[in-house]
Amino acid sequence: MNCFQTWPEPIVRVQSLSDSGITTIPERYIKLLQDRPTPSPNTPHNDDLINIPTIDLSDLQSDDISVRHDTLGQISRACIEWGFFQVVNHGVSHSLMKRTAEVWRQFFELPIEEKQVYANSPATYEGYGSRLGVEKGVKLDWSDYFFLNYLPRSVRDENKWPRFPSSCRELVAEYGDELGRLCEKLMKVFSLNLGLEEDYLQKAFGGEDIDACLRANFYPKCPQPDLTLGLSPHSDPGGMTLLLPDVHVSGLQVRRGDHWVTVKPVPNAFIVNIGDQIQLLSNATYKSVEHRVIVNSAKERVSLAFFYNPNGNIPLQPAQKLVTEDHPALYPTMTYNEYRLFIRKRGLRGKSQVESLKSHH
Ligand code: OGA
Ligand code: NI
Repeated sequence: MNCFQTWPEPIVRVQSLSDSGITTIPERYIKLLQDRPTPSPNTPHNDDLINIPTIDLSDLQSDDISVRHDTLGQISRACIEWGFFQVVNHGVSHSLMKRTAEVWRQFFELPIEEKQVYANSPATYEGYGSRLGVEKGVKLDWSDYFFLNYLPRSVRDENKWPRFPSSCRELVAEYGDELGRLCEKLMKVFSLNLGLEEDYLQKAFGGEDIDACLRANFYPKCPQPDLTLGLSPHSDPGGMTLLLPDVHVSGLQVRRGDHWVTVKPVPNAFIVNIGDQIQLLSNATYKSVEHRVIVNSAKERVSLAFFYNPNGNIPLQPAQKLVTEDHPALYPTMTYNEYRLFIRKRGLRGKSQVESLKSHH
């Protein structure tokens, strides 16, 4: 499709805007009044009290079956009540996490010309980008990113990954492997918690042929953070996401009813969230939850989102076991490739995509 070959307008790097020292942001980044991050006056001031749950995964290996069950229960409740949680003692090397985050920070600190070599197009999104969606004239988010394909191996092209810093490619490969393993572990937990065979979700995703990709997000300082967003509200279209947030700067907000909870990152934790495809496969027992990113005027922020997705060509449908007379199948059968075209074209629109699929009974 022609609309995916080029961007509809010249690309502006948000980092260049930020670095230029402007004190007011261009119109294109100013969100409509109702979309701005300023909390509404009736938001309860209990921000310091609520946070998404934090779960210790080391207990999954406990010899004590009641300890294991307790952990499964905590994950089950987090999936149902929040769709978002943090995990600690997840088995991924803390040093690797730190080094990978650092290498991406260094990448974004390179001069713009060096990053331009990797400028992406909407055909694949791979590379250095500054917008999602190809609709002309829409409001833009205050962020740049680097997107790369990790799995399947056949679409991995390390030549498209940053050559500098020199350790980048090697670190990304190691990081991807470790996060893939953690996702496999969580897929088993989700399957069991849903009352399915332990390998149900993994098989539904394509077994070893799953799709995984990484997006390094860069949120530059913003002179008017109350007028814009780093990332518009969205649910993640794929299976599940492991987010490594910036340890120094918060910014991720998760929707909770009518308000937004700012996630306070726990040191060395990953933030796990359910994507649209697990919502579909679980027939909405688990729901992908809307989230967004706010920016600030004092510090730039770097986060790494690892997306663990079904193979793009496999038809997906709600698990038969979760389809009953009382709970008919809520979604039609479709592949992940068919699904994500929508987002690649229209950009981030809350949960409108997965909601629009719902069969109307
Ligand atoms: C994403 C995302 C959150 C963040 O990349 O999909 O939601 O904190 N990122 O950067
Ligand atoms: Ni997201």
